[in-house]
Amino acid sequence: MFIGNEDIQPLKKKVLLASPTMHEEEMRYIKEAFEKNWITTAGDNVNELERISAEYIGCGYAVGLSSGTAALHMCMKLAGEKINPVARPEGALTGQKVFCTDMTFDATVNPVLYEGGCPVFIDTDDEDWNMSTEALKKAFEIYPDTRLVIVADLYGTPGKLEKLRKICREHGALLIEDAAESLGAKYNIDGKWQKAGTFGDYNAISFNGNKIITGSAGGMFLTDSEEDANKVRKWSTQAREAAPWYQHEELGFNYRISNIIAGIARGQFAHLGEHIAKKKEIYDRYRKGLEDLPVSMNPYDEKAVEPNFWLSCMLIHQEAMCRQVRSDREALYVPEHGKTCPTEILETMAKYNIEGRPIWKPMHMQPIYRNNGFVTTSGKGRAMTNAYISGKAEDVGMDIFARGLCLPSDIKMTKEEQDMVIDIIRRCFE
Ligand SMILES: Cc1ncc(COP(=O)(O)O)c(C=O)c1O
Repeated sequence: MFIGNEDIQPLKKKVLLASPTMHEEEMRYIKEAFEKNWITTAGDNVNELERISAEYIGCGYAVGLSSGTAALHMCMKLAGEKINPVARPEGALTGQKVFCTDMTFDATVNPVLYEGGCPVFIDTDDEDWNMSTEALKKAFEIYPDTRLVIVADLYGTPGKLEKLRKICREHGALLIEDAAESLGAKYNIDGKWQKAGTFGDYNAISFNGNKIITGSAGGMFLTDSEEDANKVRKWSTQAREAAPWYQHEELGFNYRISNIIAGIARGQFAHLGEHIAKKKEIYDRYRKGLEDLPVSMNPYDEKAVEPNFWLSCMLIHQEAMCRQVRSDREALYVPEHGKTCPTEILETMAKYNIEGRPIWKPMHMQPIYRNNGFVTTSGKGRAMTNAYISGKAEDVGMDIFARGLCLPSDIKMTKEEQDMVIDIIRRCFE
């Protein structure tokens, strides 16, 4: 229960969850685009951003698009055409089930529907908050015909990517990696570090305004296949055929990145390492500052993974949770001495002009996906209790959603401001 005190006052300037941090190069590249009049979806900034993205991440080709969501859409279309090459203008994934990360932003999943597919949600691993390998294995037992899996690297931490990929291979399924939040994160395979965004057959990153680096918007499709990169270039520019007029044989999209936006992201790239280092400092300071409280930080396997620490999050131990209920729109809690809950902490931080955020609400609990399948390590995750047998429905994602929250992780936050966030959290446990 929060015990207020006159000695803390609301901050004059809001501490944000994660806002853009600009440097000098961004404006220089924008100016260059103006001077050369490349105010369009082509130009040096687009070319250079693609080149440095592919080089940094370590993949053959990068195609600049208007958003990470557009990049994921292109991944879905490519995967759909590979699984079933018969032309399907109504959607390349029509009739296909797709296993999806459950605890993520809905932009991971919506592109499945853009191509007519049907998401089935795979429960979360409490060791890294990403897709559970055990639940994925169960899903292949229940739905053996599934040929596509999309995994997101939550909050900048890759999950068990190598194992997940192996399970996909064993079942003849393709893998898409949604690395929107994890640019710069690394995964160790046999002593060699490999960057996030290279583990899938098709991969996507995002330059959205809240990401580790930004173009204000924008995204990138990543692949080692020249043919796939060229298909995405074609589809994202209205799928024009080689003819002296506008000739179209397949459905196209207007998804290319703008040369101005690409200029901002290009300028940011030089500062990616610095942003990651600052995010890590923030994470470590929270870990230290909260260590004697009944909480833990968003976990990762220190030997196998180097996150980019995009968002620091915390999880309240069950025994320190006060009662909290959430409807589809509102949250209520019962204050209790010595205990707290995410709603109390978020509301208290907001009073002091500090922005936090709930954990992504799992997709299988979203009204839009209420009829889609959900698989846990025990098997089917829905309808597992009845009036006669008192079972407990397993649901790691909903448990993390209930007990966890995202802490302000803005790299412009000062040490003093972060100390105040920590102090407020401490007082919520009084
Ligand atoms: C996990 C995840 N996937 C996809 C996206 C979509 O990226 P964008 O906003 O660039 O479309 C985001 C972020 O916005 C994200 O966090």
